[in-house]
Amino acid sequence: MYRSPRYKNLTDAIIRLTSSAICGTDLHMVRGTLAGMEPGTILGHEGVGIVEEVGRNARGLNVGDRVVVGSTIGCGYCHYCRGGFYAQCDNANPNGPQAGTAFFGGPQPTGPFDGLQAEYARIPFASVNCVKLPEQVSDEQAIMISDIWPTGWFGADLAEVSDGDTVAVFGCGPVGQFAIASAFVMGAGQVFAVDKEESRLEMARAQGAQVINYNEEDPVSTIMELTGNIGVDRVIEAVGVDAESPQSGPVGEVAEGQFQEELDQVAPETNPQGDLWVPGNAPPQSLVWSAMCVKKVGVIGVIGVFPPQAMVAPIGAVQQRNLTVRGGNANHRKYIPQLVGLTATGAIDPTEILTQTEPVTGAIEAYEAFDQRRPGWIKVELNPAA
Ligand SMILES: NC(=O)c1ccc[n+]([C@@H]2O[C@H](COP(=O)([O-])OP(=O)(O)OC[C@H]3O[C@@H](n4cnc5c(N)ncnc54)[C@H](O)[C@@H]3O)[C@@H](O)[C@H]2O)c1
Ligand SMILES: [Zn+2]
Ligand SMILES: [Zn+2]
Repeated sequence: MYRSPRYKNLTDAIIRLTSSAICGTDLHMVRGTLAGMEPGTILGHEGVGIVEEVGRNARGLNVGDRVVVGSTIGCGYCHYCRGGFYAQCDNANPNGPQAGTAFFGGPQPTGPFDGLQAEYARIPFASVNCVKLPEQVSDEQAIMISDIWPTGWFGADLAEVSDGDTVAVFGCGPVGQFAIASAFVMGAGQVFAVDKEESRLEMARAQGAQVINYNEEDPVSTIMELTGNIGVDRVIEAVGVDAESPQSGPVGEVAEGQFQEELDQVAPETNPQGDLWVPGNAPPQSLVWSAMCVKKVGVIGVIGVFPPQAMVAPIGAVQQRNLTVRGGNANHRKYIPQLVGLTATGAIDPTEILTQTEPVTGAIEAYEAFDQRRPGWIKVELNPAA
């Protein structure tokens, strides 16, 4: 069915997308671990495009501007947006100030707003949520700055990474890769990267991280061994609710049904088809490891997504070891201008994380490959024009 976006408010703009992408958050929604999708909602919360129409109060934008759109939607003028907490905006979510983060292509409680895996989209509060791109930054670079790099940066910021820190990053998907890159930019001395997918670990190693395959080694005892039994200063958790338990290696399989209660809580309805769209079997796994491998008084930044009803925190270790845990949906808009700047100067080329570009018409096959973590499929751009 063809639908074209319409203006609703004077602060809206309509953009023609020139680039979009698939994110791990989309997988939670398809697998059922982030419930409440309204049938017919267009998915996708990463976008770069050209402004086609501007509302009278979308000031500062011109038709023809090339812009990157932040995934979360802020109004720019409420108390939270002014403080940089765009993900907690009081005005963007039509369900009200307490409803939670508003973002493109999400479940009903997030708006819902039609998403950006599309040819055209309506961008609310467009002067805030569209950031103009300089010529030096390509669409392929900019699509990495719509969500995943600001999120990785936000994770390093939450974990308070600073000069000389030793940092562990759980999850080496696209978000984890940018958490690693951001931690190094913020001065980390050493970064340990944990996952089980070899091609993802290889990319982390290429960035200078020391990698740990949790199917081969116990990540906690390995990190302890590599840090003189102290633990890391900071952890960035970039796995989220679809965390898996090891299938082999010294920490072996979790007992059958060990996390069943947590699974029932986070994913009341799932729809696996063979090997596809299967939720992770151990929602708290990487949080538990995070709390065990961080030093006493260490800081954990949780950027992996958990649904609002999840109660899966290792509170005993947090309380007993005087840990600080901070989490959140990224305040994309706060970081985007800075990351556009870092890209424009050539300090970092974010396309090093981009491994595939597929036509938006091939999105289903691309979702399947990304869901199954096929070797080499790390970040998938969707091209609406192809
Ligand atoms: N906070 C935000 O604003 C925000 C924004 C974007 C994405 N996210 C979230 O960040 C997370 C990562 O996103 P992504 O696109 O990189 O997803 P992804 O699914 O590609 O990556 C997740 C990685 O975690 C690994 N993993 C699974 N169990 C693990 C465990 N026990 N220990 C270590 N690694 C484990 C997987 O093998 C995979 O490589 C998702 O939860 C996503 O929803 C959050
Ligand atoms: Zn995302
Ligand atoms: Zn606001």
